[in-house]
Amino acid sequence: MSDSATAHPGVREYPFEVFRGDLPGELLRMVEHEKVSRVRLPDGRLVWLVLGYDEVSTVMTDIRFRRRGGAYDTGSAAEAGCPVRDLSMDGPAHTELRRLAGRAFTARRIDAYRPRIQAVTDELLDEMERRGSPGDLVADLVVPLPAIVICELLGVPAADRERFAEWDRALMAVNTHAATETADPTIAMRAYLRQRLAEKRAAPGPDLLSAWAEAQAEDPSLTDEEIVGLAVTVLVGGREIGSISAGMRALFQHPDVMERLRDEPARLPAAVDELLRYTSLSPTFLEQTVMAPVELGGIALRPGDVVMPLPWAANRDPGKFARPGELDIDRSPNPHITFGVGPHFCLGAALGRVEIETAIGSLLRRFPKLRPGVPIDELPWRHERINCGLSAFPIAW
Ligand code: HEM
Repeated sequence: MSDSATAHPGVREYPFEVFRGDLPGELLRMVEHEKVSRVRLPDGRLVWLVLGYDEVSTVMTDIRFRRRGGAYDTGSAAEAGCPVRDLSMDGPAHTELRRLAGRAFTARRIDAYRPRIQAVTDELLDEMERRGSPGDLVADLVVPLPAIVICELLGVPAADRERFAEWDRALMAVNTHAATETADPTIAMRAYLRQRLAEKRAAPGPDLLSAWAEAQAEDPSLTDEEIVGLAVTVLVGGREIGSISAGMRALFQHPDVMERLRDEPARLPAAVDELLRYTSLSPTFLEQTVMAPVELGGIALRPGDVVMPLPWAANRDPGKFARPGELDIDRSPNPHITFGVGPHFCLGAALGRVEIETAIGSLLRRFPKLRPGVPIDELPWRHERINCGLSAFPIAW
């Protein structure tokens, strides 16, 4: 690569340190004074790291920035060998597909699903309690809850859930900066989903696959490949697990806030948003390419430059949030961008919020003496392609 560190003395290596749940202090200071800066990634590429709230929002919404293969890239176009729309695209193709996808993802559907999310949570916590203290928050709740919920919502039979867990593990094992990509683990998943879609078309149910099959009957521009791609995207996105454990980690570090939530459970929805703002899931995010000259944070960017916006850093911008380093569950408004911003705003945000609220609310209600089973700074971390997370979280009660 011609863009080397020798040609750019003073360029910092990024990430600054191994991620263990908190953004480094240096990065948090930069949010204030160096909103856009040049860094070198582990694979040697130079990118612009974007930290300021306004600057991150610009990158994620302005058409002068284009995403290069999304975190939620389903690989559909490559496999099908023809232009297939998927949610990682930009522009009108994305808007249209997103509209069709959203038809199945209504707030009403998610709200109606709330009691089922509570029931699954209760069953998982019953089992954890039966096995006895200490339990593992990750294995006992944080992994299975979103997996069961998203499989059920999509219309995947319970008996096939383990196959999904395996495909998912293969998908996540691809490291963010791996030099070579491993074989596409979505191929088997896609073949399976194609079959389920055919079945749902013949015998519809109350699930997303059936709803998309119905949307297709009204708008034949929606192809089977696109529906399968949507299902893969939702399965991958819907298994996002980090926010529940990151949220509990933050509450253990703020026992006063935890106590207040026990006394005032009505504050939970606001607390969930503040936990989403306060916690960080990764030191990296989707890279985007500059398509036309643009000034960002006082820096003139040229076409072809690569930028990496960091929403978790933007959530700590003192220009947008008063006392950004404080976990304040009374914060209002709380315009955090943990679910993204603009056209790609998380399709599953409502579902994600209900899952976090149900999981954390149930833990606080059921276990008044809940405590971490090991010191918080000894928790084991995993580092994956899209997000980092805790690989285990011992808890005692
Ligand atoms: C708390 C948990 C979650 C977090 C923090 C989260 C975060 C995000 C973020 C930051 C994006 C935007 C990425 C971009 O700019 O391309 C996104 C997109 C997406 N998320 Fe989530 N997500 C969560 C839960 C979920 C759930 C439960 C689902 C599905 C049921 C889901 C489905 C999606 C989909 C389909 C997209 C792509 C939307 C598009 O590109 O138009 N997410 N999510």
